[in-house]
Amino acid sequence: MKKNIQNTTLKMITYSFLIVLTYACGGVAEEKETTSAEENIFSVDEVLEMVAKENDVTRTLYTKAIVGEGKKQGMKFDEDWRKNEIEAGPLPALFLRGIATSIKKGDVPLGLYLGSDFPVNNANKFKGKQADLFQSIKKDQKPQFFYDEEQKLHTAMFADLASADACVSCHNNHKQTTKKDWKLGDVMGATTWQYPSDSLSYKGAIAILNAYSKGTIDTYKEYLAEVATFKESEKPEIGTKWPSQGKYLPTPEVFLDSVKKLTAYNTMKKLVVAK
Ligand code: HEC
Repeated sequence: MKKNIQNTTLKMITYSFLIVLTYACGGVAEEKETTSAEENIFSVDEVLEMVAKENDVTRTLYTKAIVGEGKKQGMKFDEDWRKNEIEAGPLPALFLRGIATSIKKGDVPLGLYLGSDFPVNNANKFKGKQADLFQSIKKDQKPQFFYDEEQKLHTAMFADLASADACVSCHNNHKQTTKKDWKLGDVMGATTWQYPSDSLSYKGAIAILNAYSKGTIDTYKEYLAEVATFKESEKPEIGTKWPSQGKYLPTPEVFLDSVKKLTAYNTMKKLVVAK
């Protein structure tokens, strides 16, 4: 048991180094002296947990700092944001789908899906084993891990919480909603992550984290490209400022920088607790 804790602590420390390394080197990690970058040292569950953490931070930052604050500045967000005649940015769920699509286009075999038992979009309704496991997640908010025999994929599911007022008000009032009494803090859904192998090396773990970050950048860039085509609506100024400061949007680099700082902080917090 003690050894287990030490192991976990060690891995947490290694992980925080990984973050600092990828951050400092702009996404390129260097080989470690002690452990070969090729040796499998992480279980797939651990790595999916890391990337799910990044996703939580990215998703909350986008929902609160871009959608929530942006709306106060008159910016619009819509499910049909890609349509030419609609001058709006992506809703949080569609931002996540954009990230999932970008990952799928790359060469890292990582799957990402956002589902629920009371979805706005019926295509997002959990089925089979995932529907069963989601019921436990709703009760205790603990992640669920299993091997999907049919798809031959290691699968992890993490609670997706109503972390901002915007989540609750938009879902409760949506014309297609299947539930009108969501509250702040509710488990509204879960992210499902899938990966083919059961363990990963440093390189493999970094490739997953980088694929996720690239997905964030790609999707955020698509949003800014959409803003650039606005004809009727005012175009926010793109730079270092955020919507909380006025009619501004951060550049993709500034946005990702905040995600990296917030996730590194989270890992530090975990480290302190592990001690
Ligand atoms: C402005 C409206 C809006 C906001 C804000 C919003 N959502 Fe959604 N959400 C939607 C819509 C619309 C969909 C369906 C998108 C699709 O797949 O077509 C969706 C999809 C989802 C899904 C997948 C299941 C489903 O309902 O289809 C989950 C889970 C979810 N949102 C949770 C959240 C959480 C948690 C937040 C806050 C962090 C949030 N949403 C913020 C509108 C919103």
